[in-house]
Order: sequence, then structure tokens, then C-alpha cells
Amino acid sequence: MSGDELHRFGGRHTDAKLKKLSQYMSTYTTALKDQGFVLAYIDAFAGSGDRTETHPTLPLFAAPGLEPETVSVAGSARLAFETKPPFEVMVLVEKDPGRFASLEKLSRDYPDQKVRLAKDDANDVVQKLCKRLPWHGSPDMPKGMRGLLFLDPYGMEVRWETIEAVAATKAIDMWCFFPLMGLYRQAAREQFRIDDKKRSMLNLVLGTSEWENDWYKPVERPLSMFDLMEDEEIRIRTADVDAIEGYVQRRLQSIFRGVVLPPSRITNARGAPLASLFFAMANPSPKAVAVGKRIAAHILNAGSSSHSRPR
Ligand SMILES: C[S@@+](CC[C@H](N)C(=O)[O-])C[C@H]1O[C@@H](n2cnc3c(N)ncnc32)[C@H](O)[C@@H]1O
Repeated sequence: MSGDELHRFGGRHTDAKLKKLSQYMSTYTTALKDQGFVLAYIDAFAGSGDRTETHPTLPLFAAPGLEPETVSVAGSARLAFETKPPFEVMVLVEKDPGRFASLEKLSRDYPDQKVRLAKDDANDVVQKLCKRLPWHGSPDMPKGMRGLLFLDPYGMEVRWETIEAVAATKAIDMWCFFPLMGLYRQAAREQFRIDDKKRSMLNLVLGTSEWENDWYKPVERPLSMFDLMEDEEIRIRTADVDAIEGYVQRRLQSIFRGVVLPPSRITNARGAPLASLFFAMANPSPKAVAVGKRIAAHILNAGSSSHSRPR
């Protein structure tokens, strides 16, 4: 692998999402810099470090045969390397070999930054780090560590047990891009259409099977001859996108003290909801939660549309 692979992903919403993350990164390292903690950044779906966008040329200005313009913008890993004041340690996880090679190349541009790269599964690495790092101190690290974690999967890759491990550290601030579209696509309108694969994927992502009772209700149908012979109840999904997002919100609130509401909803070019960017703090200290939530709420809601929904 050359490490020069172009990573094309996301859309117009991606810049906004990364801008929020980047603002939080520098606010975070500034706020915690003199408090004696070792500050860690963990990027569990790090990509290549950059994001490539293709801009079509405007017809009036394009010379015949001119190719669309290709532009490279900083992805989450590069933004973390550029954060001032810097993180003390960074962990970048990326499973794809080509993108991993690009991360190795990128990290060589920052020789003073302590960084660990893992070509591994994000869930495995994050759970290991949550359980094994001395978040609350060790003989060589008396005050312990604080962490900022970014979970930016393409879809339904994050397992709930990973999010539980994060909450259990009581030391990590998490930005998590929750795959709304993945959820409502797997949860078919008629309950009988959810096959075992979809059901177990939803169970893994939500960490419970109770969503099914919550989202589906029996429908009243006029009785027909057919029903008299086969008395099977039909259940349909009554939970719309807002209700599904609200369900995720309540799941997060059940394990994190500081969840900022509402999350930032991201839609595709046709207006279909894609994902919700959530911020949650594992630190239960009321003072830390108050400060962290205020800062994150300001960043999360800056530039958001006025799409209102229940909190
Ligand atoms: C949306 S992209 C991340 C983009 C990145 N945050 C950025 O801003 O440049 C998701 C990345 O996660 C990687 N990925 C997908 N599943 C993974 C897994 N289970 N473990 C680690 N990486 C994974 C993909 O190869 C892809 O590069």
C-alpha cells in the first residue's frame, strides 16, 4: 500500500460535523491543559486522515474537456494532529489497509506527537482501551487520564457494549455519529419482515431487544373470512424517525450523565435523515457535566437547522 489512497465519503454535512469536532478538540485541550491529566484522543474510525471531494466545474466557466476539480480536506485524524494545545497521546484505529497506510504516512509528518495506530476492529480496540488504561491514576500517572473519543462509522458498526465500556470509564467525552438511517431501514414497517439478521444487528447496536416492543404496535383490521381461519396479529412500526432518535437518546441517558439534547440531525441531499451526532460525557461529576454540556451544546447546535423535536 502506498498510503496515497483517496478517501471519498460523506457529503455537504461532513464538513459541518468535522468543524464541530475540531472546535471541541481545541476547547477540550485548552480547558484541561493545566489540570494534571494525560489527555488522549481516540479516533475509532479514523479513515485516511483526509477526505477527498469532487467539485463539478461550472458549465459557463469550464473549458472543453476540463475535469471536475478534486479537493482534499482534513479528516478527523488530521484535525486531531493539528489541535492546539496538542493531545498528549492519540490512538487512531482503522481497519482498511489502504487507509491505515495513509495514516502511517500522515503520522510521520508529526514526529513529536505520541500516536498509536491500530489496524484492527474499532469495537475491540475501544473496549480494550476503556478497560485497561489508567483513567483514574496509576503510580506513574497520579491524576490519571481524560479522553476524547470520536465514533464515526459508515453505518451500524458500533456495538452497544462498546458504548457501555466508554460510559464505564467515567473519564471520556464521546462524539458519536449514530446511524439513524441504518436503524429505520433494518426495522421494516411490518414486524414480520424483520429477519434474524436484521434483528440481531439492531440488538447489537441498541444493546437490547426491547426496541421491538417499543416501536411496533398491533393494527386493528376489519375481520375477513381469511382472519377467521388464521388469527395472526399484524404489528407495524409506529415509531417514526423522531421516535427512533428519541429511543437512542434515552439509551444513552441511561448510562451517561451528560448527554446534550437535541443531537445534530444530518440529512442527505434529498432530505432523508442519515444520522444524528450525539455528545455524551462519561464523567459523572456535576461540575464537569455542567461545563462540558454547555460547551458541547453551543458547538453542537451552532448552524443547525431549526428542525424541532421532543427532548
Ligand atoms: C466515515 S469513515 C471515517 C472518516 C474519518 N472519521 C474522517 O473524518 O476522515 C469510516 C471509516 O471506518 C473504517 N471502518 C469501518 N468499520 C470499521 C471497524 N469495524 N473497525 C475499524 N475501522 C472501521 C472504514 O474503513 C472507514 O475508513
